[in-house]
Amino acid sequence: MEEKVIELKKNPVVQQLLCELRNPELQKNRFIFSANMKLLGILLAAKTSEFLEQKEVEVGSVLGTAKHRVTAHAPVLVNVLRAGTAMLSGNLEVFRESETTVIAASRNEETLECTVYYLALNDVVGREVIIVDPMLATGGTTSSVCSLLKKHGPTKIIVQCAFAAPEGIIKLESEHPDVLVIAAVVDKQLNEKGYIVPGLGDAGDLLCGKKVK
Ligand code: URA
Repeated sequence: MEEKVIELKKNPVVQQLLCELRNPELQKNRFIFSANMKLLGILLAAKTSEFLEQKEVEVGSVLGTAKHRVTAHAPVLVNVLRAGTAMLSGNLEVFRESETTVIAASRNEETLECTVYYLALNDVVGREVIIVDPMLATGGTTSSVCSLLKKHGPTKIIVQCAFAAPEGIIKLESEHPDVLVIAAVVDKQLNEKGYIVPGLGDAGDLLCGKKVK
C-alpha cells in the first residue's frame, strides 16, 4: 500500500530543531522560535519536492553538460493562519515561484469544531497544493481546508506539518485518503484540550503572541 505519512524524524538536523522548538526556555525568544520553524519549513519543503511532479532539465556548465530532475511546476502554498507563516516562509525559500493562498480558521475550544472564516484563494485548478500548518492536531482544520480546496480542482494536495498527532492523521486518512502527510514527527497523542502531547504548546501564540479572547 502507498505510504500516507512521511516522517523526517530520523534526520539529526530535524531532531535538533524539534528539540529547540519544544524547549520552553528557547521558546521565550520569538526570533529563535520563528527562525527554527522557518528552517524546518525549508527541510520539509525539500522532502515535499520528492512527491511533486518532476521534469528533466539539461544545463551546460563551463566544462560540459549535466542532466537534473527538478520540480516541474511551482506548487501553490497554503498558509494556515496564524501558525503557518514561519514554515511557509521556509517553503518560499525552496519554491521560489510559488503563490500563496491564505486561510484562517478558528476552533471552538469546547467542541474542537473548526470554522473557516477567511480565504484568499489563488488559482489551484490543475495545480499541486501544499497545506502548511505546523500542528496537525485533531485534523479538523486540515480536513476542512482539504475539502474546501478540492472544490477548486487541484491535482494533488500534500499536508506539511512539524508535529502531528495520531488522531489527526487517522481523521485525515479517513476523510481524505488521497492526501499525503509530510511531518517532522508524529507525537504520542492529543490531550483533552486538543493539544499535541508532548508537542510544543500553542504554535500560533509562540509565533505571534497570545490572542485576546
Ligand atoms: N495547535 C497548536 O498550536 N498546538 C497544538 O498542540 C495543537 C493545535
